[in-house]
Amino acid sequence: MNIVLTGFMGTGKSKIGKRLATELRMGYLDTDELIEEREKDSISAIFKKKGEEYFRRLETKVVKEVALLDNFVISTGGGVVLREGNIRLLKKNAFIVCLFASPEVILKRTEGNENRPLLEMNNQKKRIEELLAFRKPYYEKADFSVDTSALDSEGVVEEIIKFLERRSVN
Ligand code: S3P
Repeated sequence: MNIVLTGFMGTGKSKIGKRLATELRMGYLDTDELIEEREKDSISAIFKKKGEEYFRRLETKVVKEVALLDNFVISTGGGVVLREGNIRLLKKNAFIVCLFASPEVILKRTEGNENRPLLEMNNQKKRIEELLAFRKPYYEKADFSVDTSALDSEGVVEEIIKFLERRSVN
């Protein structure tokens, strides 16, 4: 089985994913990193030069490939949940864990980061709230979720491991 981390930008998917993989001795992959490697460009530049639709197509292609792997922790881009097929495919061989955080915490964690094209605008807090509200039903389809607002990465990893242990006992 794989463990797929979903959730909004700034909820800690990459940091937590790496830590979780080390702890569980699993492989680690990040779909955004794979896209950047393949395109030899940053996410932000891909959005600017080719547009969001192009990025989403690449994302789905990468999802199809990583869904075939086993024993990996896979961190995904925050919008991967928007295409239902992506999650359906990943779910076949993965627990889907969604990381949440409050808009205030997300703003603090993403502020000043230049590789988040969807947040490149004036009223970032409002933008975050709107996107979160729209995406809530998609994120809620996960098998398990953790609110990371008040936890450090060790705490989040512990929560996920407890969930996995409960699952394997049941
Ligand atoms: C996106 C999130 C980003 C990246 C792209 C789109 C989104 O990933 O895939 O900018 O739609 O929420 P992170 O969640 O890792 O920042």
